Amino acid sequence: MINQEIFKTMTIKLEAKDIPDYIPKMDPQYRRAPKRVVHLEKDDIELALKNALRYIPEEYHEKLAPEFLDELMEHGRIYGYRFRPEGRIYGKPIDEYNGKCVEGKAIQVMIENNLDFEIALYPYELVTYGETGQVCQNWMQYRLIKKYLENLTQDQTLVVASGHPTGLFRSKPTAPRCVMTNALMVGEFDDYNNWARAAAIGVANYGQMTAGGWMYIGPQGIVHGTYSTILNAARLFCGVPKDGDLAGKLFVTSGLGGMSGAQGKATVIAKGVGIIAEVDRSRIQTRLDQGWVDEIIESPEDAFKIAKEKQESKTPYAIAFHGNIVDLLEYADKNNVHIDLLSDQTSCHAVYDGGYCPVGMTFEERTMLLGEDRERFNELVNETLKKHYAVVKSLTSKGVYFFDYGNSFLKALYDVGIKEISKNGRDDKGGFIYPSYVEDILGPELFDYGYGPFRWVCLSGKKEDLLKTDKAALDLVDPNRRYQDRDNYIWIHDADKNGLVVGTQARIFYQDAMSRTKIALSFNKMVRDGEIGPVMLGRDHHDVSGTDSPFRETSNIKDGSNIMADMATQCFAGNAARGMSMIALHNGGGVGIGKSINGGFGMVLDGSHRVDEILMQAMPWDVMGGVARRAWARNIHSIETAIEYNKDNRGTDHITLPYIANEELIKKLVDEKIK
Ligand SMILES: NC(=O)c1ccc[n+]([C@@H]2O[C@H](COP(=O)([O-])OP(=O)(O)OC[C@H]3O[C@@H](n4cnc5c(N)ncnc54)[C@H](O)[C@@H]3O)[C@@H](O)[C@H]2O)c1
Repeated sequence: MINQEIFKTMTIKLEAKDIPDYIPKMDPQYRRAPKRVVHLEKDDIELALKNALRYIPEEYHEKLAPEFLDELMEHGRIYGYRFRPEGRIYGKPIDEYNGKCVEGKAIQVMIENNLDFEIALYPYELVTYGETGQVCQNWMQYRLIKKYLENLTQDQTLVVASGHPTGLFRSKPTAPRCVMTNALMVGEFDDYNNWARAAAIGVANYGQMTAGGWMYIGPQGIVHGTYSTILNAARLFCGVPKDGDLAGKLFVTSGLGGMSGAQGKATVIAKGVGIIAEVDRSRIQTRLDQGWVDEIIESPEDAFKIAKEKQESKTPYAIAFHGNIVDLLEYADKNNVHIDLLSDQTSCHAVYDGGYCPVGMTFEERTMLLGEDRERFNELVNETLKKHYAVVKSLTSKGVYFFDYGNSFLKALYDVGIKEISKNGRDDKGGFIYPSYVEDILGPELFDYGYGPFRWVCLSGKKEDLLKTDKAALDLVDPNRRYQDRDNYIWIHDADKNGLVVGTQARIFYQDAMSRTKIALSFNKMVRDGEIGPVMLGRDHHDVSGTDSPFRETSNIKDGSNIMADMATQCFAGNAARGMSMIALHNGGGVGIGKSINGGFGMVLDGSHRVDEILMQAMPWDVMGGVARRAWARNIHSIETAIEYNKDNRGTDHITLPYIANEELIKKLVDEKIK
C-alpha cells in the first residue's frame, strides 16, 4: 500500500521506461574497476539491497534484488549496471539537453563529460579519476539526477547527498541551482573502514574532487598545475633562473592515469625530458594516442639512454616506461644516472585499493591478486613501499630533488612504519622530511598569491568559442606583472597549439582572484553580446581556498591550523550565499577519507546581469577567503597580497592581518621561563 502511495506522489522517479529489460553490453576495451573488497555482515548485505531498491518500483524488486546481490558479491558495490544507458556517454552541446533552465542543462553536460569513455578511468563504474572518485554511486542515481536536472527551474535548488538526489526545494534565481556533498562523515566514524562499509551499503560516495563535484575537464585540468610545479621546482632547486625552463633537465616520475597522465605533456610544454613509469599498458596507450607521451619503452636502460640523448640535444620529450617505478629507480640508483627532479604519482591515497602496484608483478596480476587474496596483496604493497623508500633515500642522498606529488606517498610510507620520515620526529602532524609539492612549490609560489586552477567549459561544444575565450583571457593578462603571470601568459598563448582538449571544449588557466573576476565578467559579456554560447566556469577543489588538507593543499600552513577544515567549509558556504550555480563539499579528495575537506563550484554564464552581480561578489570571495587564511597563518606572499587587496577594496572588503612576533623574543622567553 505504502509503495503505491509513494509511486503516486512522486512525479520525478524511475519508471518502467527507465528500467531496461536487459543489461547493456559492456565494451571490453574499456578499463573496469577492481572488486572493492569490504567485509559485510549478513545484515549489512540486506541493508545494501534494501537501500539500492529504494530507487526501484516494487514490482521490479523480485527481478532486481538477485541481480543487485550478484553485483555486490562480484564487485563489492551495487552499481546498477542495467541502468547505464548503452554506448558512449559524453558531454554534448548544451542545446541537445532537455531542461527548464540553462543551469539544469549545463550541469548535465558536466556530468556526462565526467563519464565519457575518453575521460573516465572506469566509465562503467562511474569512476572519473583517482582510482575511486565517482560521479555518483550508481546508475539509478545518474538517471534520477538527470531527470531532476531536466525539471529544475531557476526557482529551485537540487540537493545531492553522496550521489543521492534528495530532491528539489524552492529557492531563488540568485541561489545555487545544485548543492552537493560527498562522503561527509561524522567525526567518530570518519575513517577508511567506516567509509568503505558505507559505500558498500550505498550511503557514501567518494567524490575525489571534481569527479563528484562534476567539474573535471580531463587531464588538461592538471597539465597547467604540473607545468607550474615542475618549472618552479627546477627554478627553486635545480639552479634554473626565474625566467628559465626545463631545457636539458630530466624529470622522473610514475603514473599515466587520470591526473598523473598530465606529467608527460607538462614536461614537454616546460621544455624538459620526462620518464614516466606506468604499469598499466592501456593507460600508456591512451596517452600515446593523445600525443601526451612520445614513446613507450620497455627497459629502464633504454629509457635512460634515450632520455640522455634528448637532454643533450635539449629536445623536449616524454618517455613512458612500461613497468614499475621501483624497478626504474633501482636501475638509476645502481647505475648512478643523474635525475634532476623526482616524484611519484601512483594512487597512494588508495594504496591498498589497487592504487599502488607491487613490484614483481604485472598490472593484470595485481588486479587478480587484489580480488583473490587481499592479505597477500597488502603484504606485497608494504614490501614495495619499503623498497621504494630505500631507493628514493639513496637517490636523494646523491643530490636528486624529490617531492611528494600530493598522492599520500609519504603518508603511506609513514603508515607502513617508516617513522624516520617524520619531520618533527614525533608524529605526522608536522609533515615529512621530503616536501610535498604544495608545501615547497605550489603553496608559496602560487596559492599564497591567489593563483589557482581556474577553468571553463564552452557549453556550445564549439571550438571557435574556446578560441575566442582563450584570446579574451590572453588580452586580460599582463605578462610583466609577476613571473607567474609570464608563465600563465605563455600557457594561454600556446594552449590551442598544445592540443590539450579531451572531452568538452574546456580550458584550464591558473589566475589570481582579480584576474579570474575580470575574465569571468568579460566572458559573461561575450555571452550577452552573442559572441559565444553559454560558459560553465569553475575550478579544481585543489585551489587556494577550496581544500583543507594538511598533507597537501594546506601543507604550507604553519600556524597549527593545518588540521582545521574551516577554510574549505567557509569557502563552500560563502559561494552558496553568493549564488554560484553548483557547489560541492567533499571529504577526502585527493588524499583519502578523513584526510581532507574540499569543495568547488561551477558557475553558469548565461550573459545576464544577474550573473554579473554574482561574479562580482563570489569570484573574489572564492579566492580571497583562502588568501586571508593563508595570510593569517603568516604566509608572507599572502600577507603582501592581502595588504594590496585591503588597499584596493577599501569600503567593500577588509581582511584581518597578523602582527608578526619577534622569533628571538619568543624563543628567549620560553627558554628562560619553561624548564
Ligand atoms: N597531478 C596532480 O596535480 C595531483 C595533485 C594532487 C594529487 N595527485 C595524486 O596523484 C595520484 C594519481 O592520480 P591519478 O588521477 O593519476 O590516479 P590514477 O589512479 O588514475 O593513476 C595512477 C597510476 O599509477 C599507476 N601505478 C600504480 N602503481 C604503480 C607502480 N608501482 N609503478 C608504476 N605505475 C603505477 C596506475 O596503474 C595508474 O595508472 C592520486 O593519489 C592523486 O590524488 C595528483
